[in-house]
Amino acid sequence: MKKLACLLVILLSVPGLAGAADETLRLMDVRTDLSDKASLQRGAKYFVNYCLGCHSLKYLRYQRLGQDLDIPDELVEKYLIWDGSKISSPMTSAMRLEDADNWLGAIPMDLTLAIRRHSGGGLRVGRGADWVYTYLNTFYRDDKTPTGVNNLVIPNASMPHVLWRLQGIPEPVYARAEDDGSAKQRKVVGVKIPEGGGALSEAEYHRMTRDIVNFLVYASEPIQSARKALGLPVLLFLIVFLAIIYLLKQEYWKDVH
Ligand code: HEC
Repeated sequence: MKKLACLLVILLSVPGLAGAADETLRLMDVRTDLSDKASLQRGAKYFVNYCLGCHSLKYLRYQRLGQDLDIPDELVEKYLIWDGSKISSPMTSAMRLEDADNWLGAIPMDLTLAIRRHSGGGLRVGRGADWVYTYLNTFYRDDKTPTGVNNLVIPNASMPHVLWRLQGIPEPVYARAEDDGSAKQRKVVGVKIPEGGGALSEAEYHRMTRDIVNFLVYASEPIQSARKALGLPVLLFLIVFLAIIYLLKQEYWKDVH
């Protein structure tokens, strides 16, 4: 019994452990929606334009993406494939890993599983989505880093704020100074978007980053929507099947007793 209790405690604390790093940071709530095809299509377009230069989606093929998101092959080839890849190829990044390491000081990881990586235990996809959404929304100006920006979710991230032209560069918001208040000690707790700082309004930028995250949720498991659709028929089949087996059993054992 004691062992069981121990095991339970360990199991329950695992998702908590994964989230421990951002303890103080409240993630933004993104509410993705895989049935919103228009959002997924926009997300795919943004991803190819702004992210694929560095990050691959190596478990997703262009053709599959087209089929799932109702984008005809010709349009996929025309608008989503930039590097001459075949439509049957996986979405690999044009950047060579050694180059990335030299330029950025870090290797941009494949993003197919980014959402799951940050789900805290793998089951809470919504948390992974919130994590990436918050990441894209919390870059802020920091002249001391090589990229000129910092980030609340990944402190000292090597990724530049690639969407800065659209969002502008947010200013850091500091915690209220409690001790001597020296600027060096102050902790950044939020970001403030300068008005008219980027090409998009704040609401438009939120929508854009939500589309990208929605697309990444899809990419993390393209089969998800299909599987959900399959769930009910499979369940019904099993129930009917069980009923038949039960009747058969009654029939076979009838004479034995
Ligand atoms: C110039 C190259 C570059 C581009 C373009 C780029 N990134 Fe990144 N990204 C990086 C690097 C480098 C890291 C690693 C950051 C670190 O840990 O220091 C990273 C990290 C990330 C992470 C964290 C991954 C993880 O699991 O920890 C996410 C999510 C991400 N990028 C999303 C995006 C999205 C979405 C776009 C497009 C809007 C994008 N990136 C465009 C270079 C890039």
